[in-house]
Amino acid sequence: MEISEKLFQKYNIPVPRYTSYPPATSFHTNFTGQDFVEQIKISNNAQPENISIYIHIPFCTQRCHFCGCNTALFQSEEKIRKYIDCLKKEIKYIAQFIDKKRVVTQVSWGGGTPNSIDSGYVKEVMDVLKSEFAFADFAEIAMECSPAYLDFEDVDTLAAIGFNRISLGIQDFHIDVLDAINRKAPKHDVGEMLAYMKNKGFKGLNLDLVYGLPLQTPASFEENIQQTIELQPDRIATFSYAHIPWFNSAQKFMDKYTFPSPEEKLQMLVHSINYLTKNGYEVIGMDHFAKQDDELAIAKRSKKLHRNFQGYNTRKTTGQVYAFGASGISQLNGCFAQNIKQLDQYMNAIETTSMAVERGYILSKEDILIRDTINEIMCNGTIDFVEIAENHACSLAEFLAITKFDISKIATLIEDKLVEFTGAALRVTDAGMLVVRNVAVAFDPNFVPAANKYSTTI
Ligand SMILES: C[S@@+](CC[C@H](N)C(=O)[O-])C[C@H]1O[C@@H](n2cnc3c(N)ncnc32)[C@H](O)[C@@H]1O
Ligand code: SF4
Repeated sequence: MEISEKLFQKYNIPVPRYTSYPPATSFHTNFTGQDFVEQIKISNNAQPENISIYIHIPFCTQRCHFCGCNTALFQSEEKIRKYIDCLKKEIKYIAQFIDKKRVVTQVSWGGGTPNSIDSGYVKEVMDVLKSEFAFADFAEIAMECSPAYLDFEDVDTLAAIGFNRISLGIQDFHIDVLDAINRKAPKHDVGEMLAYMKNKGFKGLNLDLVYGLPLQTPASFEENIQQTIELQPDRIATFSYAHIPWFNSAQKFMDKYTFPSPEEKLQMLVHSINYLTKNGYEVIGMDHFAKQDDELAIAKRSKKLHRNFQGYNTRKTTGQVYAFGASGISQLNGCFAQNIKQLDQYMNAIETTSMAVERGYILSKEDILIRDTINEIMCNGTIDFVEIAENHACSLAEFLAITKFDISKIATLIEDKLVEFTGAALRVTDAGMLVVRNVAVAFDPNFVPAANKYSTTI
């Protein structure tokens, strides 16, 4: 599969990223903690039966100027202690509404930088989870780590606590780029660290890269890709730098540097896709790649891939997501519920009411049909209209009316051989998967083209 820059240029139009449907911008504050409790009780009898848990650690030792995540710089040990106590209190409170016959198949620690806090705190929280829930023996327990603060002993400790997946934020291997984004280089050789993790039994090891950062050039980014391939991680993510200075004003500190032009960013994207796919990596989603023998690549080939706010996962480990911590988003079959983002406000809410839900959204029957259709296209690139209509107890005519799908919406994609359409089944080709959100948008009845509302692919 050789991808051309022309293809991306043509489809580089502002459409939602579909990390969720409906998108987080639809969440509203009329959704209360009481609504969430009711939805948790409903989730006990909904699919998937498995439980996924997300733990948000907002702390970082140093603020990278490019970062778009919800982070709070290290404050005091006292504040971290208080936050961990809040997490434990929140888990114990929510757990009483979850049916204990259900098993945990996934725990994801994200941030911020979860490995910037003492591992003793991590163990405390994991101990609460283990005492509240039964874990499947194949449960994935994952942490997003910054390699700037990761020691070999930390890997031992994480393994002893039960972690079996690690993702490392590399972003770029060049010191000048790391300096420009105010980020420290990995503390240890990344190759040695990955080998050590593999030896300890960690699987699905992932490295994050970002293209579009200051001082990057197509040639320097190609070096990043080459170096990453040499390290042979199981998974690679290549994110397009999201410039959102209204959310993170620290991005303005980078104004003094030269950024790659949109054309150069396009080159970086296209070269990295072509390079990675020629070197043993498969396209998992728009910006995710995995080795052919990785669980995600296998799930992709057998159409059993799933996706939530924590990233891609397999049908086997997919669960309804119960999120804990500031800004955490729970993703149940019937609702989304997001916690307060601001650290102190989150802790005050937990201390007084044991909950910190700030906003959310209850999905209608129609929303669920649209969400499942979009998810299936985004993950597995295929949809059988008759089958999905049947699974949602509606007719084909109702499916078409609810999604407002019309073949004219994907005529250009069919012409460009990015989508194949046979009978009532649609299949996105390998090349089409790289612009898959342009396909998904054809099934979103609420999509209104708006240049300022959505990001472009690149
Ligand atoms: C929570 S961080 C990963 C863990 C750890 N804090 C670190 O930096 O290594 C999540 C990832 O989001 C990506 N990211 C953060 N800000 C971004 C931005 N503005 N644009 C694109 N990707 C971004 C980075 O690749 C980063 O590794
Ligand atoms: S990239 Fe990671 S370490 Fe840097 S500020 Fe963002 S969350 Fe923190």
